[in-house]
This record gives sequence, C-alpha cells and structure tokens, in this order.
Amino acid sequence: MDETDLTVSAKDKWLAAQAPINAKIRSMPIRIDPKDATLGATITGIDLAHLDNTSWDIVRQAFLEFGVLIFPEQALSDDAQIAFASRFGALETPLAAISNERSNGEVVDDNDLPYWILRGNERWHIDSSFKPLAAKASCLTAMAIPDAGGETQWADMRAGYDALSDEIKQQVHGLCALHSNYYSHEMLGQVPQTGDGYGFHTKGAPLRPLVKTHPETDMKSLYIGRHAYGVPGLTDKQSEKLLAKLLALAAQPPRVTEHHWQLGDLAIWDNRRVLHRVAPYDYSQSRIMRHTRVAGDPASELAGTLPDIRATSYQPSQTADK
Ligand code: OGA
Ligand code: MN
Repeated sequence: MDETDLTVSAKDKWLAAQAPINAKIRSMPIRIDPKDATLGATITGIDLAHLDNTSWDIVRQAFLEFGVLIFPEQALSDDAQIAFASRFGALETPLAAISNERSNGEVVDDNDLPYWILRGNERWHIDSSFKPLAAKASCLTAMAIPDAGGETQWADMRAGYDALSDEIKQQVHGLCALHSNYYSHEMLGQVPQTGDGYGFHTKGAPLRPLVKTHPETDMKSLYIGRHAYGVPGLTDKQSEKLLAKLLALAAQPPRVTEHHWQLGDLAIWDNRRVLHRVAPYDYSQSRIMRHTRVAGDPASELAGTLPDIRATSYQPSQTADK
C-alpha cells in the first residue's frame, strides 16, 4: 500500500502533503489536546517516524487514557507506519488498503466484496472480533480523502458501560455473544462464501463476554458492535434487541468523537475499549486509508469458538493463529 498503489492525481497530492511535514512537527512542543468527549485526543509535536523512548511513553499512556489518538500531518511511509504500530505489539495485518477503488482506479460497486466491506465499516464495530484472536489496536493513515464525509468516528464503550443503569449492568453481567463476519455481512444484505476473503473462515464464531475487562487498565467496557449476535440463553430476537439497546445507550454524546481527515493524518485506537465506524461519503471520490492492525494479546483477546452456522465447515483452532 505504498505510493505506487495510488492513482496519478492521488499520488501527486500525497507527495505534496508529505514533503514539508517532518521538520514542522519536530519544531513544535508536545501537546495533548483531549477531544470534547469522554475519549480521544489530538497529539502534536511528536514525530512518529523518529519516536524516542520519552515520546513513546507519552503515546503509550495517552493511548490507554484516551482510547483514540490523532496525530495530524505525519504522512508516514509504509515502513514507518509498520514500525510505529509494532510498538504496540505483534501485527495481525502490517498493511492493508481500505480503498473504494479497484486496482485499475475504478470505483468499487456492489459486485465487489470490498464494496461490502466498506459498507460494513459504516456500522459500529471492533476489528477482528470475529476471529479467535481479536485485535488490540488499529491504525490508519489518510492517503486520499473525499471533499465531504468519510470521517472516522469512535464510541467509548468504557464510558458507555459506566453510563448503564445498575439494572442493565445486572442484566448483562455474565452474558456473552458470538461474533461473526458472516453474520454482520448478512445484516447488510450480502451473503459471503467461506473462503471469500478476510474473516470468512472456518474456525467458528468466537464467544466473548459482553463486558470486557481491559487487560492493561482493568476497567470494564461493553464489547459489542455489528459482528456480535446470538447471546446464549436468549432467542435470536431477544439477543438482537439487547445488543441494539446496549449500542444505542452507549454510543451517544459525550461518548462519541470523530476525526475529519487531512492527508497524512494518522489515527490509532484501542479496539479493547472503543467501537469505530466511517461516516458515509460519495464513492465517486477516492478515499484511501492505509490500515495497520495490531493483534490482541492471546491472554486477553483469544476466545474459544462455537460453530458458525453460516460457514461451510468448522475447524476450531486451539492456538492464537490469525
Ligand atoms: C478499519 C475501518 C474506518 C475508516 O480500517 O478497520 O473500519 O474510517 N475503517 O476507514
Ligand atoms: Mn474497522
């Protein structure tokens, strides 16, 4: 997903954005500006391509405190993004293009799986919750952006859990949900086939508690989103209703924030605490985000699976493979 994957006009804009940046960032004092919400902060004055240990310590702590960090105008190279994300842990996906363009530059349409993946991204979700090992963090760099829309939005499920009434906390206590990418695609109106691509696997649907205790902060949060379904002990209808209710209660101001992208901006978020989605935009304009995904820690993000009724077979895996 380097510059060579961009169309000529997107590449010109990208290179123009990249040139003056690093010197400018290095000359700024370090600032952490919390968003006007329970989550998120913008950090300036740290050059992510040349991160020293003091700056890394600031980033690491801010990541745990705010859940979402925005670093404007970093314009990292592929390698620098990989190196930065690797600070957080082993990578599940070193580089992936989240793009509404086919490799020939044409816009994707509803015959293409990537179109449905993008449409799915418009709904609140946690990355890789449908795999045995869910993601720890995800990181995006904006490489091409539309004139309007396409903001990334995040919802704080830690504050969302805290805001629940005692009665609802009681109700969700001890409950789990299955997570499946087949399920969430079916909800979009698209029926994927096993083996179709990322996430349509045969390892089964992981069963995960609705309330997750964060492995580093020890704080509780709701672990839900579009891939979650089938709460054991409830009917499908009851389960859908409960999950929709929790989402509606939790993903509300002041627990939501968004980033209006400029080229070269980088965002990283904690999938163990926040949900995210992309705001709709006009697909006739290109939007290309370079994604790096950090794997969860097997001690806290690895879950056992049950058969996924939408997959063609079930080959559970006992290990933290991806
Ligand atoms: C993702 C994702 C949202 C966006 O990369 O996992 O959901 O704003 N992206 O592109
Ligand atoms: Mn995502």
